[in-house]
Amino acid sequence: MPSDKQLLPKHVGIIMDGNGRWAQKQGLPRTNGHKEGLETAKKIVAHTSDLGISYLSLFTFSTENWRRAEEEVNFLLELIKKHLRKQYDFYRERNIRVIHSGDLEKLPLIVREEILLVESDTELFDGMIVNLLINYGGRDEIVRSVKEFISNGGDAGTLSEESINSNLDHPELPELDLLIRTGGEIRLSNFLIWQAAYAELYFSDTYWPDWTAEDLDEAILSYQERQRRFGGTVQ
Ligand code: IPE
Ligand code: IPE
Ligand code: MG
Repeated sequence: MPSDKQLLPKHVGIIMDGNGRWAQKQGLPRTNGHKEGLETAKKIVAHTSDLGISYLSLFTFSTENWRRAEEEVNFLLELIKKHLRKQYDFYRERNIRVIHSGDLEKLPLIVREEILLVESDTELFDGMIVNLLINYGGRDEIVRSVKEFISNGGDAGTLSEESINSNLDHPELPELDLLIRTGGEIRLSNFLIWQAAYAELYFSDTYWPDWTAEDLDEAILSYQERQRRFGGTVQ
């Protein structure tokens, strides 16, 4: 376990990638990979909370994932819905608050309802915050933020980084410190692009269903060895 608690990232984001390939490698349907990936997500949430990290953002379903076969999309949405319904105790035991980022409007009503329910059920838990990104796209979030700003009377003269930030889905989230992507691809795929402006990036070849608590420890140790300069110089 990473020993230096002082240097823990405050906000960790994970692009949980590689479910489909994990399943295909074993001759199983892609959906088996998603089921297994959910088990990994639960293990990683528990470990992140044990470590004392304050915010964890999980890329669960992107605005681009609608391009997949209808069968896979339906399976994913159903899996998310069932998980949210069943997992209240999991979050309560760990005092975890669940929040959602993304466009709720385009999600089926039943999924939307479960998201709103888990958000309100866990609202008073004051441990780690898990931010579930469902129907989420970084560009979409920025566009929705600017639209909100304009509809509140904002204009070019008053537009600023702060005004964009304050109209994001969760302005209270700190910037991303550590961005992890599993599954071997080295890209962001529209994940928290505003918040990740100065994130430290960590890529792993391991498919998400095989990712473990030790892998997360390794990512954090790598983060702790980095020198963050934010455009300045080292003292
Ligand atoms: C990530 O795994 C899960 C989601 C995108 C929902 P993938 O389904 O993208 O798995 P690969 O990348 O095809 O292996
Ligand atoms: C990103 O993975 C989305 C999630 C993990 C939910 P994708 O598998 O959709 O990304 P691309 O298509 O490889 O860029
Ligand atoms: Mg993928």
